[in-house]
Amino acid sequence: MTSLTADQIRERVAELGDWFHNIDLNGVRTAPDHFLNDYPNVKWKRFEHAVPKDLTGRTVLDIGCNGGFYSIEMKRRGADRVVAIDFDDRYLAQAKFAAEVTGQDIEFHKMSVYDVAKLGESFDVVLFMGVLYHLRHPLLALDLIHDHVARDLMIFQSMQRGSAEVAPVRTDYDFFEQDHFDDPGYPKLHFIEHDYARDWTNWWAPNAACAEAMLRSAGFAITEHPEREVYVCRRVDRPTEAGAVYPAQPKEDAVKKGTVG
Ligand SMILES: C[S@@+](CC[C@H](N)C(=O)[O-])C[C@H]1O[C@@H](n2cnc3c(N)ncnc32)[C@H](O)[C@@H]1O
Repeated sequence: MTSLTADQIRERVAELGDWFHNIDLNGVRTAPDHFLNDYPNVKWKRFEHAVPKDLTGRTVLDIGCNGGFYSIEMKRRGADRVVAIDFDDRYLAQAKFAAEVTGQDIEFHKMSVYDVAKLGESFDVVLFMGVLYHLRHPLLALDLIHDHVARDLMIFQSMQRGSAEVAPVRTDYDFFEQDHFDDPGYPKLHFIEHDYARDWTNWWAPNAACAEAMLRSAGFAITEHPEREVYVCRRVDRPTEAGAVYPAQPKEDAVKKGTVG
């Protein structure tokens, strides 16, 4: 725990720039005017029951940790080790400060999701919340998480747009069958060429069917759907041989296979 006074915390919070996570730091709120209200606490309250209450003996990887809200909650549930990554310096600095003030021991790395293989280990619980739609290559990220860092549970969240329906999908269709593509419950990933919500980093918005299909396709079986945008998944074998083509394996492995000089 910190020895900083409320005034000192308030001053540091302001110095660290605009916060996306509204975290209670000894009574000082980091983003009291958030456009989604008390975010992400309001969302967490809707799905926390689906996350194991006791994480003793388990390791957690929080991908796109932002201000550290979920990493701190995982430590509060007793996780042995929480590793938190984000590639944004401002958010990492905020998360480090939030961890310090709340007295939670979290390991931070500046790292992109595309480089998770560099961590060189897998984790019992992976949080992949609110990141997928910010990526230009979302399925690649899921494939890399599956192949390199997910051991068992993954808690996933994505912004969704379009229909919440999930239509049954056959394993194949004749070339001349096309109507199913216009079914609102068919998987659709909407491409955002320009800004959305004044944010140029929003690239994709899946509908519900697409979020679920992408998870399955990357080798994540959905075990619970506790909140509209949140899925609890278990890592399973990928249904097809298709997977990541991005050369993100640790260099030692690549050298062993003779693919790197
Ligand atoms: C909408 S915020 C979600 C934060 C938090 N996970 C949550 O659910 O509240 C998206 C976060 O993902 C991070 N991010 C975006 N692209 C990333 C990438 N390629 N690798 C790692 N983090 C990324 C951003 O910096 C930001 O902190």
